[in-house]
Amino acid sequence: MAATIMDGKALALRVREEVAAEVAELGEVGLATVLVGDDPASHVYIASKHRAAGEAGMYPRDVRLPADATEGEVLRLVEGLNGDDSVDGILVQLPLPPQIDEARVIRALAPSKDVDGLHPYNAGELYLDRPTFAPATPSGVLELLRAYEVRLSGVSAVVIGRSELVGKPVAMMLLRENATVTMCHSRTADLAEQCRRADVLVAAVGRPGIVTADMVKEGAAVIDVGINRTESGLVGDVAPDAAARAAFITPVPGGVGPMTIAMLLRNTIKAAKFHRGSLAFP
Ligand code: GUN
Repeated sequence: MAATIMDGKALALRVREEVAAEVAELGEVGLATVLVGDDPASHVYIASKHRAAGEAGMYPRDVRLPADATEGEVLRLVEGLNGDDSVDGILVQLPLPPQIDEARVIRALAPSKDVDGLHPYNAGELYLDRPTFAPATPSGVLELLRAYEVRLSGVSAVVIGRSELVGKPVAMMLLRENATVTMCHSRTADLAEQCRRADVLVAAVGRPGIVTADMVKEGAAVIDVGINRTESGLVGDVAPDAAARAAFITPVPGGVGPMTIAMLLRNTIKAAKFHRGSLAFP
């Protein structure tokens, strides 16, 4: 039987409509993004985030610094945004240029404005099972699994990739849903064998086709977080023929990607509620 395609684009639109209704109720909601340098992919992501924030009725603030900006300049900028009451959420687009210590910049964010959920405070609260802001991409993965009613409790979930942005937080979130979680990475001895046990398989590596059809358990839910630019266009981490074995699979593009932006906007609503006192932080 052919896999059900998990339509992230449609689900993201629904979430964005909900967000727009909340913005209308809250009044002004400000989202500031900080982009340092000229990474081409980051420019594309930032443009999409601004378009979506604007369409939801938010006030997007687009702050940019040149590639040779110093760490001090970025830190001062972040401090300014922390103290600006018209800014509810701040997102520092990663990667930052090599002369800037990313961890130091993330640590400088006001935790209650860290809509990316990357500040050690928010990452720690997720680890401690009391999530405040969870990172947007993993939240999008969980939202897709919920929308398609994929069972998580007691199942075997395998996450490939251990990044701070996706692999680690998605593993924590699957654990919260009572999945039995295995984290795989570049040193995993037998990746194929681990994957074949997965009822839920999340690929977040950034290598085209690293998950081949023979690595997918019959009837599994396969979530492809990879966005790889190749000569033949955008492709995921999962080979297309894996769809023949899966029960559910996300397309690339149109799967997890659109959900990331929708969940970022949802986090920004949460931040706006924190700042208006209608939700305690945390
Ligand atoms: N770079 C790639 N994805 C992301 C993301 O979700 N947030 C930030 N801040 N940077 C990114």
